[in-house]
Amino acid sequence: MAVGDANPIYDVETDHEYDGIREFDNPLPAWWLWTFVLAFIFGIIYWIGTQSMSYQRSEEQYLSHKAEMAEYQQAMAAKSVNEEELVAIAQDPAAVAAGREVFMTNCKSCHLEHGEGQIGANLTDAYWIHGSSPKEIWSTITFGVPEKGMPTWGPVLGDKKVRELYAFIATLKDTNVPGKEPQGVDASGAPPAQ
Ligand code: HEC
Repeated sequence: MAVGDANPIYDVETDHEYDGIREFDNPLPAWWLWTFVLAFIFGIIYWIGTQSMSYQRSEEQYLSHKAEMAEYQQAMAAKSVNEEELVAIAQDPAAVAAGREVFMTNCKSCHLEHGEGQIGANLTDAYWIHGSSPKEIWSTITFGVPEKGMPTWGPVLGDKKVRELYAFIATLKDTNVPGKEPQGVDASGAPPAQ
């Protein structure tokens, strides 16, 4: 019997023919099916392994190291700004005007024109989520609060513009424009009265 000839004992022909090609309706070879079954079983074991074991632990480790590193960098950078310099720049009308311009371009969309807040916090009330000292405000602008939707502006705008922004925001402080409800605490650490 030549290769390709039907074996009359078990070869049953399907009833279709495409371009002259006809097929037998035979089962798949057992060895081939086993590679499929074994790959499937291996896949399940591998999936359970990666979900429950060291792989995940190493991701947690990575994230916690990353958070530590970010905290460290913020602490180092915050040390390098000088509170007196920030207080001085807030007295400089040219810096305030420059800061106002940067604010209208980059911040108005979330904090609105008068700083009264919408998506972003109200910058005109006495209550601050991340602190109201010059260094704290500088730090919030520089590093942002990415998980709360406040972008990280330091690398985008550069330190000069961040300082000018601080100067402008210092003029908004305590202007109490009605807008977004107060969030955070005031200078004495008290939350807004309900
Ligand atoms: C995409 C929206 C968005 C933009 C744009 C944005 N902010 Fe914010 N901002 C936020 C949000 C949201 C918060 C509140 C973060 C929180 O809840 O911790 C915030 C908080 C702040 C705070 C802290 C307020 C507090 O109570 O401590 C300051 C300061 C601030 N933004 C300044 C700026 C400046 C300056 C710019 C422009 C360079 C800017 N923001 C642009 C969304 C934005």
